[in-house]
Amino acid sequence: MIGASFYAAATIIYCTSATFHTGAVTAFALKQQQQTVPTANSNVVHTPVGKDGDGAYSAATKGCFDVIDAATPLILNEVACQPIRDDHPFHIADYGTADGGTSLGLLTKIVKAVRERKGDNNNDSNNDDEKEIVIHYEDQRENEWKSVFNHAFGYKKVTDAYGNQIDTPYDLGNVFIEANGVGFHSQCYPSKSIDLGVSFTAMHWLSSSPSSLRGVDIMHSARSVDGPPPQAEQKQAEQDWYNILCARSKELTKGGRFVCVNFCVSKEGYFLGQTDTGVSMWDSFQIAWNKLAGISEEERLGISFPSYYRTTDEFINGIDKCPDLRLISAEEKIVRCPYREQYIAQSTSDDNKNSKTMTPGEYSKSFVPTTRTWSHSTFKAALSDDKTDQEKEDILEQFWTNYEELVAEAPEEHGMDYVHSYLVIEKI
Ligand SMILES: C[S@@+](CC[C@H](N)C(=O)[O-])C[C@H]1O[C@@H](n2cnc3c(N)ncnc32)[C@H](O)[C@@H]1O
Repeated sequence: MIGASFYAAATIIYCTSATFHTGAVTAFALKQQQQTVPTANSNVVHTPVGKDGDGAYSAATKGCFDVIDAATPLILNEVACQPIRDDHPFHIADYGTADGGTSLGLLTKIVKAVRERKGDNNNDSNNDDEKEIVIHYEDQRENEWKSVFNHAFGYKKVTDAYGNQIDTPYDLGNVFIEANGVGFHSQCYPSKSIDLGVSFTAMHWLSSSPSSLRGVDIMHSARSVDGPPPQAEQKQAEQDWYNILCARSKELTKGGRFVCVNFCVSKEGYFLGQTDTGVSMWDSFQIAWNKLAGISEEERLGISFPSYYRTTDEFINGIDKCPDLRLISAEEKIVRCPYREQYIAQSTSDDNKNSKTMTPGEYSKSFVPTTRTWSHSTFKAALSDDKTDQEKEDILEQFWTNYEELVAEAPEEHGMDYVHSYLVIEKI
């Protein structure tokens, strides 16, 4: 079922700015932080990076701010026309929020947009001025919840890729913050309670890991684009997407919206880290991993990412199976790697021709951690349990050093472009 305003387009978003901040998180700092992360529970396919409370994810994942910026007009457009319940708080859920830093600016804009709605009898009876808003942060139970509260309440300031400080919606007043660790494959909130659900760069994580790429030279299912993706991952992703949609369908109010921005394999066959620009991040991972000494052949072939990048058609097929959901729009976008964009901009800018501000080595140390935030735990899972935790971390440190060296040899060739499907869905 496709709504009248359905359209599909490939848009390329270039994110450049003169003042790019490499952030305080270096590969070394991430290493220190990752050693304090508790061992993953067997049901957890993704473990957070860093020490809870430090906000390492938002500090090292600048591209995700740009992905959310690219979705912001779509979301504000829906807020401008969706039903708003009278005399009732407006409930927003952010599924797979991580440390809550990257969506902070968007949530501030949503709160303002809801309150700007005129002629909707938008005021709560107990407050003449402002609609009450509830923000529900959702992620896995092992998430960095302290960082979520630090960011949401403004104890830890968040800056985007360009050094701009982001305001928290909490400061607007009459905004209530809640957290939920159920996991987005299940129903997280009571039926008909959520007015607006959003999710960014999260629902590619599968509910369990089929691990069918163990034993082959491919680390991720998207890399089999020349042939069919591995069946186990594909089937798991189909079932997971259906469960995600059924859960959201129950939670949403009538006329409520779910805006889901998810990694995809685009119509051109592009996906995270593998587009028309530079070398493939996945090839580089493979080269850096194959260079490791001290790992067995089983470990060398032991990586199987428990995530799946669906095609936009796969997303739409799932929505078609849910009678209470209607697709409003689906659009594929590439958000260019902000680290590489800035490195190239500074190296070609007239101002910097004689005094290049970032060396290739500095670039590689600023860029590589953004690939590390989401992949470190999967690389670690490939190493045998005969090794101690420290032995595993030492090997992984060598792996990240190998990757940094590769990047430093040809910095312009290395980046992590984001490829997403932006889906706007209505509960009917
Ligand atoms: C790449 S981060 C995205 C964070 C944030 N939404 C953004 O765009 O910057 C992916 C997040 O998905 C979360 N995640 C993975 N599987 C999940 C699940 N089953 N339920 C809830 N969150 C999950 C991870 O814990 C992680 O915080």
